[in-house]
This record gives sequence, C-alpha cells and structure tokens, in this order.
Amino acid sequence: MDNQQLLDLIGKMTLEDKVAQLVQLAAPFYEGAGDEGQITGPMQAMGITDPMIANSGSILGYAGAEGAIAVQEAHMKKNPHGIPLLFMADIVHGFKTIFPVPLAIGCSWDTDLAQKSAEIAAREAAVSGIHVTFAPMVDLVRDPRWGRVMESTGEDPYLNSLFARAFVRGLQGEDLTEEVERVAACVKHFAAYGASEAGRDYNTVDLSERQLREYYLPAYKAALDEGCEMVMTSFNTIDGIPASGNEKLMRDLLRDEWNFDGVLISDWGAVKELIPHGVAEDEREAAYKAIRAGVDIEMMTACYVHELPELVRSGKVDEALVDESVLRILQLKQKLGLFDNPHRGTNPEREAEVVFSREHREAAYELATRSTVLLKNDGILPLRPEAKVALIGPFAQSGDILGPWSWSGSTEDAVKLDAALNERLGGQNVTVAVGCGIEEGTEEQLRSAVETAAQADIVVLALGEASEMSGEAGCRTDIRLPQIQLELIARIAELGKPTAAVLFNGRPLDLHGVYDKVGAVVEAWYPGSEGGAAVADILVGAVNPSARLTMSFPHSVGQVPVYYNHFNTGRPQGAADAQVRYVSQYLDAPNEALLPFGYGLSYTTFAYDELKLSSEHMTDESPLTISVNVTNIGERAGVETVQLYVRDVSGEVVRPVRELKGFVRLELAPGERGTAVFTLNEEQLRYHHADLGFKSDPGRFEVFVGRNSQDTLNDSFILN
Ligand code: IFM
Repeated sequence: MDNQQLLDLIGKMTLEDKVAQLVQLAAPFYEGAGDEGQITGPMQAMGITDPMIANSGSILGYAGAEGAIAVQEAHMKKNPHGIPLLFMADIVHGFKTIFPVPLAIGCSWDTDLAQKSAEIAAREAAVSGIHVTFAPMVDLVRDPRWGRVMESTGEDPYLNSLFARAFVRGLQGEDLTEEVERVAACVKHFAAYGASEAGRDYNTVDLSERQLREYYLPAYKAALDEGCEMVMTSFNTIDGIPASGNEKLMRDLLRDEWNFDGVLISDWGAVKELIPHGVAEDEREAAYKAIRAGVDIEMMTACYVHELPELVRSGKVDEALVDESVLRILQLKQKLGLFDNPHRGTNPEREAEVVFSREHREAAYELATRSTVLLKNDGILPLRPEAKVALIGPFAQSGDILGPWSWSGSTEDAVKLDAALNERLGGQNVTVAVGCGIEEGTEEQLRSAVETAAQADIVVLALGEASEMSGEAGCRTDIRLPQIQLELIARIAELGKPTAAVLFNGRPLDLHGVYDKVGAVVEAWYPGSEGGAAVADILVGAVNPSARLTMSFPHSVGQVPVYYNHFNTGRPQGAADAQVRYVSQYLDAPNEALLPFGYGLSYTTFAYDELKLSSEHMTDESPLTISVNVTNIGERAGVETVQLYVRDVSGEVVRPVRELKGFVRLELAPGERGTAVFTLNEEQLRYHHADLGFKSDPGRFEVFVGRNSQDTLNDSFILN
C-alpha cells in the first residue's frame, strides 16, 4: 500500500477502530496466545472489550513461529479492515541465543561484535514472529544502585552513541522492508531514565537542559540518526513533567527539532501513570496529555480506548492527532511489509534452523570472551593446567547467567562453569562445592566448601547476584555481594590458598570483602548462553581477557554516583595548593572510583611511550594527529584498547576533567610495538554552552592517552 492507500484505509475506519490501533496489549488478550508471553509490568483489570482487541494495533511479548502465525491469522479474521498486528517484544541481548548483557557488551568496546549480536537477535526473533524489539536501551547510567544499568552500555555519551548506532544497524539492517529477518528497533527510554534519583526505579529525574543535551540525549539521537524506527517514553518525570505527557520533550524536541516521524510508544502503563504522578486527574486527562505530547501507542493501559473517542467528539482533542498516530503505525506496518505478508519473516522451518544454532552460539561465545573484564590478578590466573581446582560458590553450577531480559533464553541450555572447567581441566582436577545459596546458606554448606577448598591447589569462587537482583525493578541500596557470599569468601580466604573470584552480576558492585580477600577477580557480568565456556577459557588462559569497564566501580555505595567525566569543583582534591580540610572530598573514602572507566587487565602487559601531537595548535581547519606507541612487554599476545581523553581547561561552562574522544584496539604479539593514531578536530571539542549553542571554546586543552581514564600519558594544545 502507498501512503494514499493508507490514508484511504484510515478514512474507512470508525473513530473507535482508529483509537484501538493505538493500544498495545500483552499476549494473554489474544486468541491462541495462551499464557506463555512475556509479562513485564503490572497486569490490572483494564476494561478491554472484544472489539478493542479486534482493532488493536500491536501485541506485546509473544513469540514462536507457529503460534505467531495462528495469532495473526485469528486476529486478521476478526479485524474488520484486515489490518495485521505488529508483534513487539523485548529482545534486548538475544532471543534464544543469549549474548552478554549490554553493560558487558559495552565493556568489549567492540561495536562490530555488538552489531553482529543485534543482527543475530533480530534473525532469531524475526523468524519466531517478532517485528519490533524494544531495544536498544541507551540510557546513560551513573548509579549502580539502579537495577537497569545492566541494560545500558555505560556512563559515557560518546561510547553509548557508538553502541546505539551499532545495535540499530544490527537490528534493522539496510532495508527493513526487504530484509525480513530483521526487526524494527525502538530506542528507549526517552529520556534520561538513567538519571532516576537515588538509583530507584521509576523515580524522578531533574536535570538542567544543558546536562540533558550534553550527556543524556546524544545516544538517543545517535540511534535515530541511524534510522531507528521507534522511540519509547521513559517512566520518569523530566523537569516535573512525566515523559509520557511531556509536550516539550516529545513534540518540541523529538518531533520538531529532531524531525522524528516514527512511532512513539509509551512504556508499560506509563500513560495511566500520569495520574499517580500527579499531572492528570483521571484516565481522560491522562489520554489528553499523552496524545497531545505525541504518544502514538499506549502500552498496557486503556486511557486511549476509553477516553479518546469522547475527547475527540467533544472537540477537546483534534481528530487529526489520532489520525496522525494511526498513520504512523500503519506506515510502520507497511514498511515491514505486513500488508503484503502479515507473517513477514515468521517461518517455522527457519526457526528450527537458525534459533540457537551453532553459528549463533559461537558469536555469543566470542562476545562473552570479549566482555569479561579481568579486574585483579596477582598471578594466579591463568590457572596452571595441572592444578587441582576447587570450584566453589552458588554460580559454580548455575544456569542463572543469562541476566534479565532474556525471556526466551533457557537457563538449562546455558553452558555452566563447572561443565566447562571439567572439559578443559579434566573432571579429576576439578571438585565442586556450592558453598551457599545466593542470599542464604547453611553452616553445613559453608563447612563442606571449606573442606573441598582445603584439598585443592587453587580455589575459584563463582559468586554474584541472582538475575532478579538487577533489571527492571531490581534496585539495591547495598551493592555488595550478599552477606552469606561474603562469609563464604572470608572462610575460604582463611585457608590462605591462591583464590580467584568470578563474579556474575548486573551492576558495578561494591567489592568490599572480595577485592581485598582474593588474588584475582574476573567480572563475567551475565555472560549469556555460552557464559561458562567463555569464562572457563579466560580462567585457563585459552583466551587473554581484553575487556575494559564502561561504568566505574565505586569503593562503596556512599560514593555513588561516581563517574569519570565529572567536574573538577572549585576546591579539587590533590591541587597543588589544596588544604588539608577545605577541599571537595570525603573524610572516610577517596573521591575516585575503585576501578575507573576504561579499566581492565590482560594476561600480558602493555607499555606506553612517545605520546606525540602533530602540532601545539589546532584550528577549525587543521585537526591534530595524536599518536602513542604501545609495546607488548609480556609473554602472550593480547589486545590493548588505547583510549584518548581531553579536557577543556577553561570553557564558558565548566567541562569534565576528562572526556573520551576516541579509542583504538591494538592486537600485539609478545614484544611487538604498535602505534595508536587518533585524529582530533574542532568539532569534537564542541559542547552545549549556557545558551545551549553547540560550539567549542578557544584556549588550552589537555590530552590524555592511556590504558584507562586515569592511567595516561599527558600533553596539551591550544585551540585557536
Ligand atoms: O520495554 C520494556 C521497558 O523497558 C520496561 N517496561 C516494560 C517494557 C515492555 O516490556
């Protein structure tokens, strides 16, 4: 259908039919879908009638090729206009083949692999009946108490933007209409959901417009510049107005300034939540505010279907607003080819062939090896091949390593660490004890773990958070490992054996009781379906770890938020003239993170020298070339991620102490020397000034190049 045909179709629809296109319902509402779908929010009595379901525009969280075909066919028989449903779901880091969680993917600093993971996720989802995924989540995150940090690629706007683009490319491909094994992407959560106060989910966000534009908006914009088809509103308020009823954010910025003409969907229940937020008296006012803000689809509440017809008939809402939203939804259906083939890529044969295929699992394995960060190593790792290893802890045999948002994945199919280590070291060399549960355990379990450890040469502790301890509604104020696991570590440490800890978790943790007690720490995050294999290969040294943190690890929760690109303050700690007391600091903790952004170890060592700038001056027309030599002075081949940061020393507005501007991955053999070369131009030095103008400041800039955001070689230049 062309646009005119879509308009003609809209012309034939009753007001009720049109409004029903704007509701999105979870799977249990649909004939044939049963109760197997994904439920990701409160299920309440909604007052949905059969005609509303028959005319509804999209279904949430249902997959499976045969089932999806049946649901679509049943629906089209009931829909008076033969309009197919859009099938949407959260395919966040894989469908059945589960990749590491996005925070881990961020730590790979590898946008090609990120793109590939998204392409595979799209393929598996598309053949299983999905047309749209609620991904990528690109919220900038600074507070590890927030459970959803695991869905983001971290605390840096530049890196997040690169990943946002990569994910969209992978999900949507080049031509969404032709490539039926791709899905439309929906970037979320617009906007600044990651800045929820105190790291509590659904909480208030209050930022200056400058902060919003400078740090939080770039990644959403990057996703849209890459052609992302949809946007999801966030649950939070922005400057006192909930995003789902925020005209300034949605109409003025998203639609008018950024020219976004795709579909805007609310988050689950977020339209009706305008009532408890305190900006709508009732469903009618909530519907009024959301449609005026430009929300096209209301997810899982019924304010639109209950109230919009009357709001239009009474003249309070212009019918053109409803028509506009319906047109956008139908245009997306058209782009996805659903009017020609309502099943699009859904295909039971392809489903059997590609879902969880060997090739996909290999890609998941590769990304897991690249996402696992070596945080500490006193030389215990890699494990000696002949060593007797005691593998101890609640994650030793656990399949709960997929992480949140992996509803189609199977924890049973996940490669567990004990099986993978047995395979690599030989069953006779590995003994396993659970030690305790994730949050509880018995004296007997602890005692037996200590006995097992006492018989071994080396102890590997497999510890972490259950996946429900992060993700949506998974916030914590105490971000240490649960007490029982700390007790387990303390008891094992008393043996004085070489001990390494592997952590499976969804957020930067407070590592008290871990980092100080063991000789090596491996941050595996939730590594996905092939997690056990990837971690085992890192432990035995078949893979040399190369990942680098993209979110800082605090010393303790009292420092939170702690992030590398902060301001200096007027009384910075450590300044030449700093006094003992009257400086910006804590009396009982350092200011810096325990492990900074960009940090990560390798089994080899890289030495940096000869930082060179092509000139002491940069002008608008003459970019700088910045280079540094890096030598692998260890005995193993390895990959170093060389990072470039700058600081605008004197801006109109204060600028962060360091900002990432580029990175280069160097793969170096033992003894090999490589050169990382960066180009830096004036455009990369622009930022939002007090008047929101996006420009640079002439003057001095410091340059930092190194292995992480703290450990760098330094120089400076003048921007004329
Ligand atoms: O996509 C998600 C969103 O991220 C959080 N609330 C539920 C949505 C649909 O599952």
